[in-house]
Amino acid sequence: MKEKVEKKERVISGKPAEDDSSLDSSLRPRRLADYIGQDRVKENLKIAIAAAQKRGEALDHILFYGPPGLGKTTLAYILAAEMGVNIKNTSGPAIARPGDIAAILTNLRPDDIVFIDEIHRLSHVVEEVLYPAMEDYAIDLMMGKGPGARSLRLSLPRFTLVGATTRYALLSAPLRDRFGSVYRLDFYEEGAIGEILVRSSRILKVPAEDGGIAEIARRARGTPRVANRLLRRVRDYAEVKAGGTVSRDVAREALTRLEVDEIGLDQIDHKVLKTIIEKFDGGPVGLETIAASISEEADTIMDVYEPYLLQLGFLDRTPRGRVATRLAYEHLGLRYPKGQGAQANAQPKLWAE
Ligand SMILES: Nc1ncnc2c1ncn2[C@@H]1O[C@H](COP(=O)(O)OP(=O)(O)OP(=O)(O)O)[C@@H](O)[C@H]1O
Ligand SMILES: [Mg+2]
Repeated sequence: MKEKVEKKERVISGKPAEDDSSLDSSLRPRRLADYIGQDRVKENLKIAIAAAQKRGEALDHILFYGPPGLGKTTLAYILAAEMGVNIKNTSGPAIARPGDIAAILTNLRPDDIVFIDEIHRLSHVVEEVLYPAMEDYAIDLMMGKGPGARSLRLSLPRFTLVGATTRYALLSAPLRDRFGSVYRLDFYEEGAIGEILVRSSRILKVPAEDGGIAEIARRARGTPRVANRLLRRVRDYAEVKAGGTVSRDVAREALTRLEVDEIGLDQIDHKVLKTIIEKFDGGPVGLETIAASISEEADTIMDVYEPYLLQLGFLDRTPRGRVATRLAYEHLGLRYPKGQGAQANAQPKLWAE
């Protein structure tokens, strides 16, 4: 299955871009030991794998959620490798009819992993097939049509469903409840991104100095896919302009040309913040309204831009809409108006959960 790609290339988007796919697979860690960061998730998975192996059983169903490019697909493949089983890779939009999911499930070997990306996009009728499959390892097939139709229960081998989503809230409760474990992937620490960059530069044979790595890590939005993409763009620049070595200066120049600022924000992030501040007096303003006024899709803002702005504490999500915080004003070099704080701070800071 090809991952959904974005048409316009945005260097800071966590979503896969058109030329990421080969890069993604060569840089993708294959084993848990090579997977950098997300220590809490890794620890838990290690235990789950060891326990399943000891019992000689399939892993429990697992759900990963979090912003694009943080390593959900990578983890699904690692689980298959660690368990020594096959993985069947599909996605919510690819499974249109109940028959499609039935075909996948009835062709599994015992303990196999079924990976469903964008699982929040499964249709209701497909979900209905998954419930008994996940719970009882069985599917109910309808034989015949109309009043004479009968259902026939077919048992399946034990398997593990691994789901991934960027939108946990869109998952239906019955589906959510059927996962034995649910892991949220967070943005990576800068240090972990640095380690990922060192590993990637070795694989890609890019000579990189510590300063160059640090400069890219600082602007990679805590996202491995963005880090790898920036590394490749900086490498191109270094090859053409600076004899190939990624030094701090070369990285800085290349990233400035790509219009990625010192903390990884690009033009769209700036537009989002400026729109809230200049057109809507700092907010609150609804996401759809922001999207419409900068001609972006609300989904893109929600998946790609907003999570990082929330994480930085530049945006607050309030019941009445998005609010730009003092930090956002300061980053843009704008004066924070008096009286603004009382209103914004009256709301809970959801990003600090
Ligand atoms: N922990 C990690 N260590 C090293 N590299 C990583 C790690 N996590 C992700 N990567 C790199 O980032 C790339 C993107 O990861 P992945 O495709 O797993 O993200 P994803 O969360 O599935 O994204 P999406 O939501 O778009 O499907 C991988 O190809 C890999 O090169
Ligand atoms: Mg993925």
